[in-house]
Amino acid sequence: MLNFLRRKKDNVQLFYHTDMHNHILPGVDHGSQSVEQSLQMLEAEIKMGIKRVICTPHVTAETFENTPDTILPAFNVLQKAVAEAGLDVELHVSAEYRLDDFWNKQYAADNLIPMPGKFLLVENSFMQELLELDELLFDLAIKGYQPILAHPERYGYYSHRHHRYETMHNAGVCFQLNILSLAGYFGSSARDNAVWLVKNGMVDMLGTDMHNLEHAEIIMEYLRSKDWRKMSALLEPHIMNDDIA
Ligand SMILES: [Fe+2]
Repeated sequence: MLNFLRRKKDNVQLFYHTDMHNHILPGVDHGSQSVEQSLQMLEAEIKMGIKRVICTPHVTAETFENTPDTILPAFNVLQKAVAEAGLDVELHVSAEYRLDDFWNKQYAADNLIPMPGKFLLVENSFMQELLELDELLFDLAIKGYQPILAHPERYGYYSHRHHRYETMHNAGVCFQLNILSLAGYFGSSARDNAVWLVKNGMVDMLGTDMHNLEHAEIIMEYLRSKDWRKMSALLEPHIMNDDIA
């Protein structure tokens, strides 16, 4: 058992209670590989002050072609294990949808698992921005979904195109920042973009994007830093994780 899960006195609690981006669901992507690992990750979430976890496994063409048929059985297994372990956490299930060919098919077939309130977490390609991104985000809104762009700070092609952030955010797209990006885990470009988004009041939600316990440990260490104290003061008025209902 990892020491940081045992340590109590220096735990820092988040100011919200819903983690809406993580890879805790066992055996469906490159996140948790077992129910036991999922339970340890949920214990880490609870230590951070999280009371509600919306599981968001990857849905990506070729690598993780998950559908409700693969996601929902894994969710049922986890829910049962959480009840048996007596963990005090409420679970929900959705997904992180990469906007690619597989998405196009699932979207056309209405084969999605939205979050409560029809919030939908979508992810850009890391190589280049989708040509028809604005049209797609608009179409989602027309169909009653509230799109959330996962970790906008991590797409390198926005580093010198911050106006794209403004266009999307003004069009009503929610932005979800990774705490790991603020901690510097994804490098200086993601960290710089993250700080810019925080300072410009464009961060609507925060996520752990936790794939394993190492991520949990890095986040917990960052939550004890002066930088987090500064960032969280700027973030708190905008964050609406707990409004996903
Ligand atoms: Fe993710």
